[in-house]
Amino acid sequence: MRPVLRDVNLDVHEKTFAAVMGPSGSGKSTLLHVLCGLDSPSAGTVTLAGKELTGLSDEQRTLLRREWVGFVFQFFNLVPNLTVAQNIGLPLMLQKVRDPRNDPRFQETVEFFGLKSKLDKAPHELSGGEMQRTSIARAIVHRPRIILADEPTGNLSSKAGREVMEFFRRAVDELGQTILLVTHNPRDARYADELHFLRDGSLASASTLRGKDINEDRIASCMEELGI
Ligand SMILES: Nc1ncnc2c1ncn2[C@@H]1O[C@H](COP(=O)(O)OP(=O)(O)OP(=O)(O)O)[C@@H](O)[C@H]1O
Ligand SMILES: [Mg+2]
Repeated sequence: MRPVLRDVNLDVHEKTFAAVMGPSGSGKSTLLHVLCGLDSPSAGTVTLAGKELTGLSDEQRTLLRREWVGFVFQFFNLVPNLTVAQNIGLPLMLQKVRDPRNDPRFQETVEFFGLKSKLDKAPHELSGGEMQRTSIARAIVHRPRIILADEPTGNLSSKAGREVMEFFRRAVDELGQTILLVTHNPRDARYADELHFLRDGSLASASTLRGKDINEDRIASCMEELGI
């Protein structure tokens, strides 16, 4: 069987906003699953905040993922019959926080994402952008070591998508969060500190862009070169 990922060597430093671009089927989602221990690589290691995931049992990986990883998905994945507050509080509940709404992390997060007036609403009463803000708030509320985001703007208007990217950027700059974003969208990629390109399961390391090199022209030429 053909491996989905091959020779992938990726370091994401703390307090960095990293992004990965690549064509459909290139292994982007698989990479995120491997990084959080949902999938195990057949060879190699995955280290999260100094802890090697590959040697842990399923249960140990689940606990670590709960505490250290926040997820943001394309389809929001909010729990429909819970309120916005209950959705955001879920990771704290899993950490046995009795009353998440009174936890300072909850209050700071709700304030940060401008969701105070939405707390008692059901997810279906929100706009797409508000749903995604809720799901990012849920991903960040327990201050995970890393947020993994898989095409988080794929279902949003360009305005709502821009807003989501601005929140990610601020979460790194103001809260010291670490983010790994997977995207098809060069407009999203421009918010990152470093941009990696994945093709056929391998990182094209020669074309990693950093800092000021992450601009429209360079992204477009990398995408063209890699046939994205
Ligand atoms: N659980 C699985 N078992 C076997 N093959 C899989 C599994 N999940 C994904 N694949 C295959 O691995 C390859 C990479 O899939 P992946 O979902 O990681 O791609 P992607 O880059 O996220 O694509 P997209 O942009 O469409 O979301 C594909 O060829 C896919 O068919
Ligand atoms: Mg995918």
